This record gives sequence, structure tokens and C-alpha cells, in this order.
Amino acid sequence: MSAANEIDPRVFPATARRGRSCGQLKLGGIRATELIERFGSPLYVVDEQVARDRARAIREALQGEFRRIGTEAAVYYAGKAFFCVEVARWMAEEGLGVDVASGGELAVALAAGVDPARIGFHGNNKSEAEIARAVVAGVGTLIIDSEQEIERIAAAAAAAGRRQRVRLRINSGVHAGTHDFLATSHEDQKFGLPMDRAMEVVGRIAAHESLDFVGLHCHIGSQIFATDGFRESARRLIGLYGELAEALGGPVPELNLGGGFGIAYTSAQADEAPDIASVARELADIVAEGCAEAGIPLPRLAFEPGRSIIGPAGVTLYTVGTTKAVALAGTDAVNADAGWAERLYVSVDGGMSDNARPALYGADYQVRIANRASDAAPALVRVVGKHCESGDIVVQRDVIPGDVAPGDLLAVAATGAYCWSLSSNYNYVPRPPVVAVRDGEARLIVRGETEDELLARSVIPD
Ligand SMILES: Cc1ncc(COP(=O)(O)O)c(C=O)c1O
Repeated sequence: MSAANEIDPRVFPATARRGRSCGQLKLGGIRATELIERFGSPLYVVDEQVARDRARAIREALQGEFRRIGTEAAVYYAGKAFFCVEVARWMAEEGLGVDVASGGELAVALAAGVDPARIGFHGNNKSEAEIARAVVAGVGTLIIDSEQEIERIAAAAAAAGRRQRVRLRINSGVHAGTHDFLATSHEDQKFGLPMDRAMEVVGRIAAHESLDFVGLHCHIGSQIFATDGFRESARRLIGLYGELAEALGGPVPELNLGGGFGIAYTSAQADEAPDIASVARELADIVAEGCAEAGIPLPRLAFEPGRSIIGPAGVTLYTVGTTKAVALAGTDAVNADAGWAERLYVSVDGGMSDNARPALYGADYQVRIANRASDAAPALVRVVGKHCESGDIVVQRDVIPGDVAPGDLLAVAATGAYCWSLSSNYNYVPRPPVVAVRDGEARLIVRGETEDELLARSVIPD
């Protein structure tokens, strides 16, 4: 079978493979055609086993490495990557806490039965109602993201008769070397407070009887491949821990270094994508060295990975509607795609409404024909959606068998994170359902939308 048919296990979910006789892509042991017949097209598919295995492996790697240096680590799943009741349940069962970023995500976590004490609540503009709901529900930690929030959370905690654990989000000024829109620790951005405000703000937090300051939080960005950014931000935060211990009269017990571990979206990226076991080892060493240098005891650590857990567990299946060959000679694409005379535009029945990342971040993906393997000569393809935007691209460039045709199913890999959660109804296209697959079984975990549901939102005058 040619490379254009290959299902790369470093990009597709680890259990995905082509059936030996049918040549079809199987996800969780189920043929792509069967999934589409049962649940419709397009379809988000999440491999439950892969999601659980990754969650457990990441938790165990971080906990094991921090135990080695003499402390503990808690791992929270970042629900923003992809969240629904079922996924929240999987994460809790695999021993993770949950990081939520809105009242809606909190509602999902609570509906799933996640222990409120194992929930962290983020957000740069939590409403008073969201804060009150979180405090009353017994949420373990609220992450303070602005000075105004100190009084708001303190008042909500006092009203509920609780002492609320809080962390302070710090903008460490470290840029994780990722796309500008994803880097959430630049100095010129909305999240957290600058390092030079930390001492005074922590003092203000500590002055409230109803608040229990447990540590600083820093998230330096997303889709991070190198550990230098973590090293630098941990160094800066740990530097503050020495000063804080003096001011507070005792060590700061916890340090949250956020999420952001990168994944491979294409085979070309696969060799560079970080291996979580080595990242965990490096992070533990970084913290151990930093604390030894600063002469402070090791804090307990917390992490909030999202993409690295759920991203590689997801695949989106689409049906091809039309194809169009475009000659490349004389276009500005010639350099990037030298050697190819034409590009085949393959239009599918979804697009930027179910995967906004290519349009938002210039993200790239890998695609394969899912309903068959083919020996046809490979073609340079761009997979595009059905929306009224020329930037409505799902896969910028890939090489697949050139006989791809209307009616074929396409599988786009690594769509588990930030696809469903960033989806929209652009052009009144209903959101696809999400199906979990495992050991030859498939079940709906998020219902798709119907046109009637979308239409029902319009107020129709009598
Ligand atoms: C505060 C915080 N924690 C965790 C995450 C999860 O990041 P990732 O999905 O890249 O691991 C994000 C993502 O933006 C975030 O803002």
C-alpha cells in the first residue's frame, strides 16, 4: 500500500488502522462507512481508549517524575480543548481533575459528577454569578486573573461561609514560541497580572480571611514543542516564591505551570512532537533545580493539559461532494508545491464551522481516504469546506490517491482538541455529532444539531 494510504499511528489515534481485506479505515475497530451510515456525515469520532490512555499516561508521567524529586503533582484536564459530560467522566475516572473556564464548562463538570474539590476555575472575566456558583458548589481552586476579582471572590466566599482556595495567574512575560494568537503569556495580552504586581496583589489576597492563597499559576501558551519556555517561566515564578515566603511568613504550597504540550498534526511534525515522559522528566528537573537555587522547599505542582490528551484521540470524517483541479503554473503556490502541476481541491460537507483552526491559526492537518485504499497515482490535494469563504480550508496540503471522488469518505486526523469546542453555525450549518468508539462499539456522546433546531432560534413574527 502506498504512503498516500498510510495511517500514521503518530498522527491518527493509536488504535486506527486499515482493514486488511476492505482497505477501510477502522476507528476503535469500526469501519468508517459503518460510522457514517449510523451517525451521518460529517462526524466527529473520539477514540475513548486513546483518550483514557493518554490522560492516564500524562498523569502518571508527571506524578512519577515529581515524586522522584520529592513532591506531588496534580493533573487537571483542560476542558476547553473538548468537553462534554462523557469526556469529563473519563478524565475523572483516570484520576485527573478538571480545569473549567466558564460557568457552562463548570456545569458540564458538575453534571458529570466530577468532585468539585478537583475542579479549577479560570477566566479573565468571570461574572459574579459564575464566581458565586463556583464557590457554593465547592470548587477546589479559583484562579484570580485580575485585581477586581480579589474582592469579588472574597465576598462570595464570605457570603457562602467558606474559605476559598485561590491561585493568582501571572503573566511571566515568557513567549512559548508558538503562534501569536495562542501564546497566552505575552506581556501585551489580557491574561494574568504582570510579575511586578505579584507581591502586592498576593498581600491583598492574604489579607482576606475568606481567601486561602495556595500559589501562582502560569500558562505560557499552547502547542509547545520545546521546554525552554517552561524552564524560563518556572525559573521566574520560583524566583518570586522566595520573596513571597518571606512576606507571607511561610512557603507557598503550590505552583501551577498550566498546559500547552504540543502534538503532531502531520507526519512531518511527528518526529519533533514532545514525548510526555521526557517533558515530565525535564519539568521535574527544572523545578528541582530552581527551588534548590532559590533555597525554598519544593511546592506541590499542578498542570492543565488539554490538547495533548484529547487531540490525538479525535478524527473527523467527511464526505466528498466535489473535486476541482487547479493548475499551479502562474499561481503563487508554485514555490511551496514545486513539482506539482496542479492542486486538486476536494470539497467536503463541513469545513470551518467544525474546524476553525486552519482559518484561525493557519493550522495544518493530515487527511486520508477512509472508505478504501487505492493504488491510483498520488495527487496534491487541499481539502476545503462548503462555506462562503476562500479561507474555508480543512487541510492545506496533503498527498492522497488522485482518484479521490465524490462519495468518498475522508478522515482528518488529530481533530480531538479545539475543533468541536470552537465550532460554529456559520452559514446555518448544523454542528455534527460526536461519537465515542472503543473495542468495536460506537456510541453517541454529543448530539448533532438539526436545521430545525437552528431555525427555531429565529423569532418568526406572527
Ligand atoms: C489556563 C490554561 N490552561 C490550560 C490550557 C490548555 O492548553 P493545551 O490544550 O494546549 O494543553 C489553556 C489553553 O489555552 C489555558 O489557557
